[in-house]
Amino acid sequence: MILQVKDLTVRFGGLVAVNKLSFDVKPSTIHGLIGPNGAGKTTVFNSIFKLVPYNGNLIYKNIDMGKYPTHSLVNMGISRTFQNLSIFYSMTVKENILVGLHSKKSSNLIKDTLGYKINSEKELLEVSELLNILPYLSVYAMFLPFGILKMVELARALISKPQLILLDEPGAGLNPAEKERLKEIIKRIKEMGISVLMVEHDMGIIMNISDEITVMNFGEKISAGTPEMVIHDLKVIEAYLGEEIHA
Ligand SMILES: Nc1ncnc2c1ncn2[C@@H]1O[C@H](COP(=O)(O)OP(=O)(O)O)[C@@H](O)[C@H]1O
Ligand SMILES: [Mg+2]
Repeated sequence: MILQVKDLTVRFGGLVAVNKLSFDVKPSTIHGLIGPNGAGKTTVFNSIFKLVPYNGNLIYKNIDMGKYPTHSLVNMGISRTFQNLSIFYSMTVKENILVGLHSKKSSNLIKDTLGYKINSEKELLEVSELLNILPYLSVYAMFLPFGILKMVELARALISKPQLILLDEPGAGLNPAEKERLKEIIKRIKEMGISVLMVEHDMGIIMNISDEITVMNFGEKISAGTPEMVIHDLKVIEAYLGEEIHA
């Protein structure tokens, strides 16, 4: 297993946002994490990134991540994107992508940044080509549309060559053509040997590309299995009643 989530519990005051949640992410697979709004999905990602205190165990490649601070995760081979776009608008696309390397290796920011300009050019071009953003590398982010900035954020998460990538609603706000391209990109990421843990509301994306799915509601796991299994699970159908399902 690349990631084992064991009895993960997160409390915010009286609210139990994640309740004894357990699931495993297998190597080189796409694992979907779904559930209605407020189910606790983003909180799972924030626990992995040490942004919220949690109980239970998060085990990455047989290492308990409890001891490791947020900035060490990139070196361990874990990266993520955010549900709300996390872009520096007064920086170019290239600079925004290179931010993904800042906490890698040594801690000398200036030396690293200069060094990366030379050493990471190849990776920068590779990842930009994969994500179709090569023409925009020298453009300031403030001038670019949302769909392209989502790809810039994904490029930032990929340039560190992670083994596990966490995507929080990568399809949100994308148009149908962009969503189709996103599906192909995520499949390519998997083919590169990277394990993907993905939160996504668009059932067309999730059901089409996930190898396995874990379904949450009110912080708890209510179903798990292949896309075919979970979509026919009565508990899942009930949990989504009243929610719009895009299929
Ligand atoms: N930092 C926080 N402080 C207090 N409550 C939070 C915080 N983050 C999330 N929550 C609450 O935890 C629950 C789960 O939120 P979240 O993980 O964002 O859900 P999802 O991503 O599945 O929509 C929600 O009720 C939300 O309001
Ligand atoms: Mg969320």
